[in-house]
Amino acid sequence: MLRSCSNYATSIRHLHAVLGIETSCDDTAVSIVTSDRRILVSRRVNDRPTLTKLGGICPGLVAQQHRTLLRPLIEECLHSVRMRAADLSAVAVSTRPGLVIALKEGVSAAIDISRLHRIPLIPVHHMRAHALISSFCHPDLQYPFVALLVSGGHSLVALVRSADHFELIVDSVAGSAGECMDKIGRELDLDCSVDHPGAALEKAAARAPLGSHLSLQIAGVPSSNGVSFHFAALKSSLLGQLNKMRTSGESIDVDQFAAAVQHQTARHLCSRLHASLEFLSDEGSIGEGTSLVMAGGVAANSYLRGCVEKVCRLHSLRFLRLPPSLCTDNGEMIGWSGVKMVEEKSPSIIPWESVPSSLYVHAKEEIGRNRTGEVPVKTRRKIASSSIHNDHNPLVVRSKAEYRSKVGLLFDH
Ligand code: KG4
Ligand code: ZN
Repeated sequence: MLRSCSNYATSIRHLHAVLGIETSCDDTAVSIVTSDRRILVSRRVNDRPTLTKLGGICPGLVAQQHRTLLRPLIEECLHSVRMRAADLSAVAVSTRPGLVIALKEGVSAAIDISRLHRIPLIPVHHMRAHALISSFCHPDLQYPFVALLVSGGHSLVALVRSADHFELIVDSVAGSAGECMDKIGRELDLDCSVDHPGAALEKAAARAPLGSHLSLQIAGVPSSNGVSFHFAALKSSLLGQLNKMRTSGESIDVDQFAAAVQHQTARHLCSRLHASLEFLSDEGSIGEGTSLVMAGGVAANSYLRGCVEKVCRLHSLRFLRLPPSLCTDNGEMIGWSGVKMVEEKSPSIIPWESVPSSLYVHAKEEIGRNRTGEVPVKTRRKIASSSIHNDHNPLVVRSKAEYRSKVGLLFDH
């Protein structure tokens, strides 16, 4: 499959081959992708067993991992496809949002490569990259599309108009879907040494008997009204329920509890997604056939994907799936964002002559213009939230009028 160095260099001259570097959290990830949609090489390293022992991400430790492993990994990638760094069209790197101390390691390596080998440097927004990888998997994807991004650090809905033009439609007040599932996965003592805790929770939930998703009455979960995600509130009510069961000596069926957690996560996700889609279709930004991509680590969860797909069907949107390996953090999404930004002539690309000796990285940066205040708090149509469960039954939806009449009936009795 590999060609000789000179042949290879000649063949890619008219293509873009971009090196992607991802170090925003605990994964040290590197990939080289081309504009004709090939992943030439991909490497990802993390130390999940140590982080599991420590109970979560330790910034100093992951920065140390990037410092030790990143540069040899880049060398190994280039060597394995018999390329020189100078053969690359550009080097793309995550610069925001993420752990500052971790991002700095990737950026420092990217700056050195850019200056030494005289290739442009492309600073990439990590969450945008999660969304943009969808056009690698789905070549016919058209702008604008909707991105539901659910990861360990973020939960948001964005409208994507180009590689550089995102609009933030729904954001999270506090917490994220991934963090909520991680915390509960750890509290349930699931084996997280190989998988992300969220993935371990999904496996446990899959073992639960039918109907387990509705097995618990959980007090205090965020209502279906509202325009922002609040996964911190959801996490507190789920943990509260767990503690209550523990203190009362009630036996806890871990698999059943995991299924209920997954379902509650889906309800919260889908209620806000529905509100944002209703808003975007009312203003004419999306219509029948517009694509929606679900991306970020939590999008690897097939139960949640099934629920989101139901909401897409309600809005006549085309739901796009990504392979799980491209949902969790990876180098391909950074390299591919670089390709898209080259193709779309992004003004963010820095020519090698202008690359400074250091670049700012940011723990936080919104994905784009914040439009969250424009989304109405109440939707015109309400989803009956238990019907989002991933089965063959259709989503049950009621209009405001139907709702009012139902409440009226209850009062008449
Ligand atoms: O995108 P990602 O790799 O890193 C961040 O940018 O944060 O997302 C990691 C998150 C973790 O919270 C992890 O538990 C969650 O994605 N995750 C899952 C699954 N696989 C990973 N959550 C639910 N189900 C999964 N199968
Ligand atoms: Zn991520």
